[in-house]
Amino acid sequence: MDSYHFSSFFLCMITGFLLLIPPYFSATIASAAAATPQHASKPGAIETDGKNHSKVCDAARFVALGLRMDDFAYCDSSLPYPARVKDLVGRMTLVEKILQLGDRGQGVGRIGLPKYGWWSEALHGIAVTGHATYFGDVVPAATSFPNVILSAASFNESLWKKIGQAVSTEGRAMYNLGHTGLNFWSPNVNVVRDPRWGRALETPGEDPFVVGRYAVNFVRGMQDVEGTENVQDLDSRPLKVSTCCKHYAAYDLDNWFGVSRLHFDARVTEQDMMETFVRPFEMCVKEGDASSIMCSYNRVNGVPSCADAKLLSQTLRNDWQLHGYIVSDCDSVEVMHERIKWLGLDLDCGLGNLNYYENYTLSAVAQGKVRESDIDNALKNLYMVLMRAGFFDNIKAYENLGVNDICTKEHIYLAADAARQGIVLLKNNLTLPLDPKKYKDVALVGPHAKATKAMIGNYEGIPCRYVSPLDAIVKDVRVEYHEGCDVHCRSSRSIPPAAEAANTAEATIIVAGLGLEVEREELDRNDLLLPGFQTELINRVAEASAGPVVLVIMAGGCVDVSFAQNNPKIGVILWAGYPGQEGGQAIADVIFGRHNPGGRLPLTMVQE
Ligand SMILES: *[C@@H]1O[C@H](CO)[C@@H](O)[C@H](O)[C@H]1NC(C)=O
Ligand SMILES: *[C@@H]1O[C@H](CO)[C@@H](O)[C@H](O)[C@H]1NC(C)=O
Ligand SMILES: *[C@@H]1O[C@H](CO)[C@@H](O)[C@H](O)[C@H]1NC(C)=O
Repeated sequence: MDSYHFSSFFLCMITGFLLLIPPYFSATIASAAAATPQHASKPGAIETDGKNHSKVCDAARFVALGLRMDDFAYCDSSLPYPARVKDLVGRMTLVEKILQLGDRGQGVGRIGLPKYGWWSEALHGIAVTGHATYFGDVVPAATSFPNVILSAASFNESLWKKIGQAVSTEGRAMYNLGHTGLNFWSPNVNVVRDPRWGRALETPGEDPFVVGRYAVNFVRGMQDVEGTENVQDLDSRPLKVSTCCKHYAAYDLDNWFGVSRLHFDARVTEQDMMETFVRPFEMCVKEGDASSIMCSYNRVNGVPSCADAKLLSQTLRNDWQLHGYIVSDCDSVEVMHERIKWLGLDLDCGLGNLNYYENYTLSAVAQGKVRESDIDNALKNLYMVLMRAGFFDNIKAYENLGVNDICTKEHIYLAADAARQGIVLLKNNLTLPLDPKKYKDVALVGPHAKATKAMIGNYEGIPCRYVSPLDAIVKDVRVEYHEGCDVHCRSSRSIPPAAEAANTAEATIIVAGLGLEVEREELDRNDLLLPGFQTELINRVAEASAGPVVLVIMAGGCVDVSFAQNNPKIGVILWAGYPGQEGGQAIADVIFGRHNPGGRLPLTMVQE
């Protein structure tokens, strides 16, 4: 291995940073849960009497429950939120309170409080991950924006905010239709310290300040209700939807040399903690006013993040004045088991049937380890956020959002625009733009030349549509397409026909790179090279080509492309991240000169 690899390995061991979680793990269990009868009804819906209600405090709902809404002060919109929340929590028995502490809050039918799913995701569009969002019937799809690492490459703060605004509009519309909750556990603002980290694609990259600015803009775009951006009383400031900056803190390593992400102990110096790992979270809370933070699986200097009084109570709540709730990463509370202490955590995200709070809190209270007043505080933090987000009353400006506000022309345009703004020109040896009038016959080659699902990466939803590179490029030129090989590229067998096509075409476009097959949650890489025979595919196709060669790399984490940088036959290298549902169009627009690429790498491309 090259020296970079060695030194980065060494660095990992010294600073002992961090770890991660699996979307795959979560998604699998979430979809299994969705199939069980108890979730047969729409997970995001406030369903009463077979009808979906977009607010709790709907008089007809109470009538259907045999109750009178007027008897419940928590539904009195003339009272301030704290008084309403106090009334709500005060009506619950201890057992009922405990049943609200998991991500699938059980509700209390006797007082008109419905079940509530706290776990939805919206990393780059409303996602299927979690227990509270579903696609189907009236909402078959939502706009899928580029993965965060590519949007980050635009270095355009107003773009980041605009994406947040579009995603939250779609979220709010889906909420009205009973397809999702109002709490989205996004964005991921862990700083990428190791370019092989499997979750680099989810993040804004390696620079703590850029990551922080991304967090502030995305969170503000998602949460801010027009006209209330600067309201002084943060307990009453309305939320378009609630976001969550995660995973706090010092986390960016998965299953490494036998160390499980669940039990990894990150050894971090005070300085590194302040300057790097915690900085984006500080910006997210202080400048973004995020209404939730998720603590991470790992330990930091011996203490589980989710049980660290200094990180949670002192820093988040006191120093930064978090107005919102703290949620555990899924099942990290399990990791703390016997030694569970109540240190400011409000909600437990539980995969499968695990739900530690619900099971053990009662006995913990009986044994005097947890005070009922601590539980009341947790519930207060949770319901204040739901009050602000209009779960009880809805929010006038959003009440009428519906199917026509999802996958709109504007949102789809924005998804394409974000991809165009992010794409980075790594090399252009007097080759771009290609004039489609001059180069009419193009060989289109490579594992991602026809990419669809690969373009939307992880924490994905169901996109409105896909525009693959092939779909877009055939609109400009005649194409002869050859896959060459898939992402793993375990065989060189199909290289010759691809090279043959390049030899007869007037120009060649190769779309190669990584995919969730090799980089994702629970899967870090061991090196920075393209998988299998991909490098050979690219070199042989370039060698055979008669005309100019454009190489497009789709990848989240860093890929060493110095072989192509040094190859005179390869005129152009473009890095396109994972560009989202419109990615192919953005790539074609750059290649054929309709967009002048101005993205800059948010993650260093290491060269040998
Ligand atoms: C930033 O993004 C916005 C929104 O898409 C766009 O209007 C603006 O032109 C972009 N700014 C730059 C400098 O590209
Ligand atoms: C909760 O308690 C029940 C009954 O003792 C047990 O079967 C279940 O496994 C427990 N769940 C967890 C997450 O501990
Ligand atoms: C750029 O193109 C010229 C002309 O084909 C070639 O001589 C040179 O080696 C190329 N440079 C690189 C870095 O590819």
